[in-house]
Amino acid sequence: MEGQSVSDIPVQVVKDYEAMSAAAAEVVAESVRANPELVLALPTGSTPLGMFQALVRKVKAGELDLSRATFFCLDEYVGVEPDDPNSLTGWLLREFMEPAGIRPDQLHMVPSNADDVHAAAQGYEADLLALGGLDLAVLGLGPNGHIAFNEPGSQRESRTRVLALTPESVEQSSAYWAPGTPVSTTAMTMGISTLLDAGRIVLIVSGDAKAEMLRRSLKDAPSADVPASWLQTVPEKTLVIADEAAASELG
Ligand code: GLP
Repeated sequence: MEGQSVSDIPVQVVKDYEAMSAAAAEVVAESVRANPELVLALPTGSTPLGMFQALVRKVKAGELDLSRATFFCLDEYVGVEPDDPNSLTGWLLREFMEPAGIRPDQLHMVPSNADDVHAAAQGYEADLLALGGLDLAVLGLGPNGHIAFNEPGSQRESRTRVLALTPESVEQSSAYWAPGTPVSTTAMTMGISTLLDAGRIVLIVSGDAKAEMLRRSLKDAPSADVPASWLQTVPEKTLVIADEAAASELG
């Protein structure tokens, strides 16, 4: 589904990383207050760390109750267990779930270590659908335009699946991996369609290194070349929260 750029996704431009983190945390908190049984997915990477800290502060201050929410992981490397120091699930557990007091039974983990990963990917999608799909997806933006691990080439119709990571993503991942550990080159990820079916989507973007990719995501015609550009096909339920540096090429 290629087409003209619509680019009418609302973009909330805030001063800096801290303001982006606070604004994103507020969207999550408001969504949970409106529906305490929210089904949501949160990203990994460095971008959401400030949002996680802001959410943990709200929980500890008694301003936010996450105890009835259900969390789905977005993506995970194939062949990496959650207790592996390089695991994305482990990252989410350490940086958010444990400090926020979220119980293990509230978290669905991507089954990227199943014997049959393809069947397991379909099962993960089915588990999500059985709960009515995602109410909220908070996403980061990869340097090559990926959302979750939907790499360039990901089609609008894609669902949870296993795919090969691009050399660029392997390089990006290596910054987070223990030195000397070979980075897994395949991952399981929720698909573009899985994400676009969410009730609400928030893309958080910070820093000038992401400015060009954010511009392409919002201004280029939607295509698999820049997976985040598919968000333009659901502008009514999408919000971009970007700091001034990330938004600097939006004009
Ligand atoms: C990672 C994850 C994405 C994340 C993105 C950006 O590889 N698979 O879910 O949003 O890349 O990471 P960062 O926030 O560190 O730039």
